[in-house]
Amino acid sequence: MNYAKIIHLKKIPDSRGNLTAIEQLGDVPFEIRRVYWIFDVPGGERRGGHAYRQGQELIVALSGSFDVMTDNGHESDSFSLNCSYYGLYVPAGTWREISNFSTNSIALILSSTDYDEADYIRNYEDFMVYARND
Ligand code: TYD
Repeated sequence: MNYAKIIHLKKIPDSRGNLTAIEQLGDVPFEIRRVYWIFDVPGGERRGGHAYRQGQELIVALSGSFDVMTDNGHESDSFSLNCSYYGLYVPAGTWREISNFSTNSIALILSSTDYDEADYIRNYEDFMVYARND
């Protein structure tokens, strides 16, 4: 069973401002195929609410804060992200939903796959059948 988990990224402190880097297959356990970000989220809105069959991802609160709910079909979990050098690793086959975005927050998402609508499971009941047969 795969579980979502927080990955502590290295922070390079500097009096001129801190720096964090992410390298594929080192800091994240997959090759990075795609990077996207979610921003200007109106108060009270939620994003996600789906799973990927193959896609793995790392979600980083680049700015501000938000909560990520994860569910692998057997256990659900909730993570509060509010630090730009922590990432939430989300394995393939995980339902996830992002909520409680603070004003001006930015969710950076690194993905192991190209965008492919066929990789999505957007219906929770379908996801539960998929996850429990896995
Ligand atoms: P979606 O993944 O459903 O957003 P979220 O999970 O954040 O709620 O994507 C929303 C729309 O954006 C959908 O029409 C597909 C499009 N999209 C792309 O074109 N490329 C991408 O890399 C992503 C993630 C989404």
